[in-house]
Amino acid sequence: MNRKGGRRIGVVTAGGDAPGLNAAIRALGRCAIDAGDEVIGILNGWTGLLEEGTCRQLSADDFVGIVSHGGTILGSSRTAALQDEVGIHRLLAGVQEARLDIVVAMGGDGTLKLARKLAEHGLRVIGIPKTIDYDVDYTEICIGFESALSRVVEALDRLHTTAASHHRVMVLETMGRDSGWLATLGGLAGGADMICIPEFQVSIDDVAERLLERRRIGKQSSIVVVAEGCDLKGVFGDAPPLDGVGHPLLARRAIGEHVAVAIERLTGSETRSTVLGHLQRGGSPVASDRVWATRLGAAAADLARSDRRATAVAVRNGEVVEATLSQLTEHRRVVPESLYELSRRTS
Ligand code: F6P
Repeated sequence: MNRKGGRRIGVVTAGGDAPGLNAAIRALGRCAIDAGDEVIGILNGWTGLLEEGTCRQLSADDFVGIVSHGGTILGSSRTAALQDEVGIHRLLAGVQEARLDIVVAMGGDGTLKLARKLAEHGLRVIGIPKTIDYDVDYTEICIGFESALSRVVEALDRLHTTAASHHRVMVLETMGRDSGWLATLGGLAGGADMICIPEFQVSIDDVAERLLERRRIGKQSSIVVVAEGCDLKGVFGDAPPLDGVGHPLLARRAIGEHVAVAIERLTGSETRSTVLGHLQRGGSPVASDRVWATRLGAAAADLARSDRRATAVAVRNGEVVEATLSQLTEHRRVVPESLYELSRRTS
């Protein structure tokens, strides 16, 4: 224990950044410091535990004005390479070196799985779910998703007007590594006419038939949303290179552009594609992400004072609750068929 009799709480943000992370860091930091704990920022993701000088004590000044800022003041990185035994032991040595009593890990599937492994090796950890992909299970809120969703909807609203002016088909490619949440909910809210996601495979002929049918009934423009990770029968994206940690760089498949070319060929309609890319992740969080991130960060500060070894915070039935890392990481949340069907029935 440190001189105040409190704890040294490490905080790490890892994986892709997400709007709302700073609101969570601020709430965690303010509540923990107020309760007599010290808060140590682990910089640039988990790798901050491996290098000298990449952990630093956070003070009240660090939290001023950041609730509205996108990204993460701590920096982030991906860490698949640290998931093996050697990596885990290097991280645990880093935790010891930084004299941390507990680590609060804000992240998606990969980060929370790594947190779970560290907990199995004896580290006290608290997970906070964040991902614009919304594929962390159990929790109703993943920090960043609502902000990214609002960008998708805004983009669709804009695409509708230009599509209508030129009587075109517009294809919007969204993020969502293996997950169709952004495409499905964005498409529902943005009035898309066809949504293609990894969870439910369709063929390019189905897509073309639907667009031709719309034209037959007098609709002169259409909007198609394509999740970056989806596979359509009859269209192949480019083979993507792998990123630094072995994930395929899905944006390089250019699936949206390939779908647009195929639509133009099969329907004769002039077609354009737009890739929304990192615009979905950057910039200020929407109000609901700020509020939930604040509530989750404060709840994590409270949990840090309990004697729980491996735990997490989540949102269930509209309330912040304590969860286990297993509940968050056992399965990936996928778009249910009923929701996907709703998007088809209402387009
Ligand atoms: O996991 C979040 C995410 O934004 C995915 O939707 C996307 O495939 C990936 O990260 C992009 O990662 P990067 O920022 O490394 O290009």
